Amino acid sequence: MWRKCFTSLAGQARTSLSLSPICVQNSVLTQLLKRRLHQVPGSPTARPPKILITGGLGQLGIECAKLMRSQYGNDNVILSDIIKPSQEVLDNGPYIFADILDFKGLQKIVVNHRIDWLIHFSALLSAVGEQNVPLAVRVNIEGVHNVIELAKQYKLRIFVPSTIGAFGPDSPRNPTPNVTIQRPRTIYGVSKVHAELIGEYYYHKFGLDFRCLRFPGVISSDPPGGGTTDYAVAIFHEALRSGKYTCYLRPDTRLPMMYIEDCLRALLEFMRAPSEQLKRRVYNVTAMSFTPEELVDKLSKYVPNLHVTYKPDSRQSIADSWPQVFDDSDARSDWHWQHKYDLTNLVDFMVKDVQENYINVENGERHTLKI
Ligand SMILES: NC(=O)c1ccc[n+]([C@@H]2O[C@H](COP(=O)([O-])OP(=O)(O)OC[C@H]3O[C@@H](n4cnc5c(N)ncnc54)[C@H](O)[C@@H]3O)[C@@H](O)[C@H]2O)c1
Repeated sequence: MWRKCFTSLAGQARTSLSLSPICVQNSVLTQLLKRRLHQVPGSPTARPPKILITGGLGQLGIECAKLMRSQYGNDNVILSDIIKPSQEVLDNGPYIFADILDFKGLQKIVVNHRIDWLIHFSALLSAVGEQNVPLAVRVNIEGVHNVIELAKQYKLRIFVPSTIGAFGPDSPRNPTPNVTIQRPRTIYGVSKVHAELIGEYYYHKFGLDFRCLRFPGVISSDPPGGGTTDYAVAIFHEALRSGKYTCYLRPDTRLPMMYIEDCLRALLEFMRAPSEQLKRRVYNVTAMSFTPEELVDKLSKYVPNLHVTYKPDSRQSIADSWPQVFDDSDARSDWHWQHKYDLTNLVDFMVKDVQENYINVENGERHTLKI
């Protein structure tokens, strides 16, 4: 999947320029060089930022590390989590233990590795958070206090993702603007509103370079971490294996979504955006909105006899309080966010990815990723 992100970024540079192959090569090289020489804020010499990713072994972290390493070099991106990594993770670059509830431990990492950017992914997601509220409070609120204070002390640029779950039943749902009523009814949503507000507060009070994107449901072939939008990943695995899927949401439940490659590119572009370009510190970003039945319709092209049944569970009421369509026009105008994947090419890529990287591998077939 790392190859996929990198090939696609290079491909994007090619198509947007339409120059001769040598020009293209030079311009891509120049771009890469510029990226390598990205100026670390406050640094007297140009050098790539040293990046720490917390909660790095979840759905977003491993792919994020691959993308950041492709831009800033392997050794400049440290992946961390509290769980044991696979051999593949260890082979791909630096990995360390980091518990976000241990402030001194975090200080030690920032000092010893001379960290410049912190990408804070550790969290308990919506469905898991509802099952263990005290732990969600600790990880999602106390953990955020720690990393925000850490970033202030060491002058780090810090990215904390928020979510469509930071809105609630009182918010306008179609579309949900960047600034509106936020009264979420899950501990996950409450903790994310808290993260947005404390980050903005530190920005205004101490000049902390806090950056936050509200992501919609993120779709990738990797197993998701217990969110309300997980069906849109699970359905590919189940449908391609068995031709059947039982969906825990009603067929007409519309939610905003984004393919992981778009999500991580948004993060990268946002982290690189000059501070002066940002009119706010928290932005909605999205790519598309669809319902389970619309996804099933597209997936049926690949699995003609696909049989989906609907058995809504507790996640339905969470989904019913979330935005249906996300308005990310501020991100599009302020730092030129543009998505690449819509529902049709999302399904094409996911089918290929799950087939080649999971099902063929399980069946012992050799696979090559041509995306
Ligand atoms: N995946 C999505 O669809 C989505 C959508 C919107 C926002 N987000 C946000 O993006 C971030 C990453 O999401 P994800 O899907 O990769 O989550 P995930 O649940 O897959 O991974 C979270 C990671 O945090 C780690 N963690 C838990 N407690 C920790 C602790 N005390 N110290 C350090 N690490 C700890 C877990 O081990 C896990 O690997 C989260 O903040 C989430 O809220 C994700």
